[in-house]
Amino acid sequence: MDRIRIVGGSKLNGTIPISGAKNAALPLMIAGLLSEETLILDNVPRLADVVNLQRILSNHGVDIMSAGKRPGDHEYQGQTLHISAANIIDTTAPYELVSKMRASFWVIAPLLARMHEARVSLPGGCAIGTRPVDLLIMALEKLGAIITIDGGYVIAKAPGGLKGAAIDFPKVTVSGTHVALMAATLAKGTTVITNAACEPEIQDVADCLNKMGGRVSGAGTPRIVIEGVARLHGARHTVLPDRIETGTYAMAVTMTGGDVLLAGARPELLQSALDVLTQAGAVISVNNEGIRVSRNGAGIMPVTVSTAPFPGFPTDLQAQLMALMACAKGSSHITETIFENRFMHVQELARFGARISLDGETATIDGVAKLRGAPVMATDLRASVSLVIAGLAAEGETMVNRVYHLDRGFERLEDKLSACGATIERISG
Ligand code: UD1
Repeated sequence: MDRIRIVGGSKLNGTIPISGAKNAALPLMIAGLLSEETLILDNVPRLADVVNLQRILSNHGVDIMSAGKRPGDHEYQGQTLHISAANIIDTTAPYELVSKMRASFWVIAPLLARMHEARVSLPGGCAIGTRPVDLLIMALEKLGAIITIDGGYVIAKAPGGLKGAAIDFPKVTVSGTHVALMAATLAKGTTVITNAACEPEIQDVADCLNKMGGRVSGAGTPRIVIEGVARLHGARHTVLPDRIETGTYAMAVTMTGGDVLLAGARPELLQSALDVLTQAGAVISVNNEGIRVSRNGAGIMPVTVSTAPFPGFPTDLQAQLMALMACAKGSSHITETIFENRFMHVQELARFGARISLDGETATIDGVAKLRGAPVMATDLRASVSLVIAGLAAEGETMVNRVYHLDRGFERLEDKLSACGATIERISG
């Protein structure tokens, strides 16, 4: 199993190109199931989760062609995928495939909407809490699906097709909103989703669905209205930049010092995180190439932050912020409100000498002057990268084990960081 070796202490200087957003690319690829015609997606990141989803879609009979590089393409440019679901030959998504990645469960929505049936294994994914699918099922039932659970599979049927409905989510859910949105595009009549997730990735998917002939309005707000259409056609869409990758590198620069341009990043996608970083002592400016981050000379200031649905501070940056606060000049408080049990990184950060105590959903981090490198274990996707950030700032050598979690969500992490002066390498095997 691959490991990542880091020798900490170097400042980061240079340019980091930001990849397409994993959390948009996955539902966009799944949306390809909604049409018989080809959906072309540009700027798809090269990630293990994308490869895994390609496998799942192929199993349903989807042809996916990845276009090769063109002269003049930047080495980091995302790939272009041509997704053709002309014939869906299988409406079952098996356990062996779905258990690797939670988002693959979302295929249930387009399969049900287009084929009127789906049999999808209950999902797996990062171990960050129980992560149920009750609200996804509730949304599909509102749209007229008959759902049973048998042998670890969710079996959904809608013999006469789905019908538009009012779907009011009792809590904000990204997965629930994606599923309701995709299913409703091909339902008969109008669907109104209230208390919808407002994440930019939902809006990106809605934009793509509209290019495909869907009639979606209000995405990006808590009230989304979808007028169902009989069929969707092909389209071409560019995946928006990854705000979590952007925030992660912004934190790495704030931690190590230096001056980095996050090329292609869009500030409006992560304003709350940029505000927190400014409070912590980062100097952030925006130009037409992206976001530039450096650290002022005063050291890292402590902050008090709670995670929240968009536009609040993202749970997917919580672990990285905790790594940063491990070196703050004072005590910080971070409260996790989205996922229970999303503190697996705490014990690993302690190996660097971080002083963190937990009280329910709140972590108190007492900043220390220096972290020291250590062997650590990646536990989930975002937790893993917090260990990389800590390793970049720590004195001496860090070895991050089980990096397959990182490969699920960060494209060429070690290349991007070493191009900015970090001593970081992958050790294969
Ligand atoms: C998505 C993101 C993930 C991010 C999370 C929150 C993708 C591929 N993943 O995950 O990176 O951390 O949003 O921003 O986009 N819940 C229920 N019942 C359900 C569904 C969810 O109780 O049926 C709960 C969850 O356990 C959690 C909360 O709702 O406590 C939010 O989950 P949700 O927004 O659905 O997260 P994901 O879509 O899984």
